Amino acid sequence: MTPSRRLLLRAAGAGALSVLPLGRGGQVVRAATPDPLARDPLAPWANAPAAAAHPDPRIRALSWAVLAPNPHNRQPWLAELPAAAPDTVVLRCDLDRRLPVTDPFDRQITIGLGAFVELCRHAAAEEGRAVTVTPFPEGEPQPRLDGRPVALLRFGPPGSATSDPLFRAAPARRSAKRPYDMARPVAPEALAALGAVVGDPVRFGGTVAPDRVARIRDIAWRSWQIEAATEAAHLESVNRMRFGRAGVAASPDGISVWGPGIEEGVAAGQITRETMLPGGPGYRVMVERYTPMLAATPAYVWLLTAGGGRGAELAAGRDWLRVNLAATAAGLSVHPLSQALQEFPEVAGPYAEMHAALAPDGAKVQMLARLGYAPAVPPTPRWPVDTRIRAV
Ligand SMILES: Cc1cc2nc3c(=O)[nH]c(=O)nc-3n(C[C@H](O)[C@H](O)[C@H](O)COP(=O)(O)O)c2cc1C
Repeated sequence: MTPSRRLLLRAAGAGALSVLPLGRGGQVVRAATPDPLARDPLAPWANAPAAAAHPDPRIRALSWAVLAPNPHNRQPWLAELPAAAPDTVVLRCDLDRRLPVTDPFDRQITIGLGAFVELCRHAAAEEGRAVTVTPFPEGEPQPRLDGRPVALLRFGPPGSATSDPLFRAAPARRSAKRPYDMARPVAPEALAALGAVVGDPVRFGGTVAPDRVARIRDIAWRSWQIEAATEAAHLESVNRMRFGRAGVAASPDGISVWGPGIEEGVAAGQITRETMLPGGPGYRVMVERYTPMLAATPAYVWLLTAGGGRGAELAAGRDWLRVNLAATAAGLSVHPLSQALQEFPEVAGPYAEMHAALAPDGAKVQMLARLGYAPAVPPTPRWPVDTRIRAV
């Protein structure tokens, strides 16, 4: 490898992270840390600001983009850096990172990719560069995504954009899977402020009205229970659980079961994939955790589009990121709750009920989330940015 083909992430604090080009096969770049177990699964959160020292503006922005919200934290993005177009990122879906049972048409995965694009755009704008986004330049893959690009991102020169204040919330943005403070109602004005960051073709909805909140909560909770009781759907989650710090470090994606009080149980063999199956103690703990959590919900927000289609899904991801950032800036927490929006047969009933409740005009509900106040939660793990980039 020649030095000119090696892009070193020299940023202070970024350690030995490097973005290496690919061999002829175009395989994903490997992480520079030789021992994955020594990797800090949360390091990408520190590396994003530290990447400001990287010479390539695309890598500076992508270091933020990998922190985007996405279903089951699958991190389905693959960013190609074409040598022939140094101002361009070709974004593709890593097709192995989809959720075929609960997301049979890759709708949620596309929303996550839309959030990635938007965070990339914000990070570039922060240093004055506009990013022009061309969605699905080779056509919209249907009914599932394929190898064609999801988007082309073309980076403009310095001075082509101004920063968006929402970006300041990016380091603290979370999906807060916690009970919300029922003694602290959400003001209608706070809802309106979230709605103000959503744009065409996406429509914002939200409610703090107790009757409506109760109706949505009922449908959401029943659909959550159906997913948990549907073997293939539940297994899709269980198979993506990472247990204990070592498990999370080896695969910093999916559902991370780690942290204080859990490490001991994992080490003792008490918290395993098997215990998460129906009837097992882990399954019971999961239900016991989610029952009060979903009950402690003072408000909901949702995003609608007039119809489906990949463009609408990418736009929903863009605006979900914006709502999540605006909520963070306002001290509010959000928690997406997708079970009633999913397209697998067992949840067809709640799907219809939720659409009747939120979109009586026939629109598609792309996102639904709990909204409220909760103590700060830690970030979720991420693969290092260099594992998600290929030079081509
Ligand atoms: C399209 C989409 C659907 C999601 N659905 C759910 C969900 O049903 N339940 C849930 O707990 N989190 C859901 N999430 C949140 C993700 O789990 C979360 O973004 C991911 O774990 C990364 O965590 P972070 O957002 O805190 O960075 C969803 C996120 C997206 C973008």
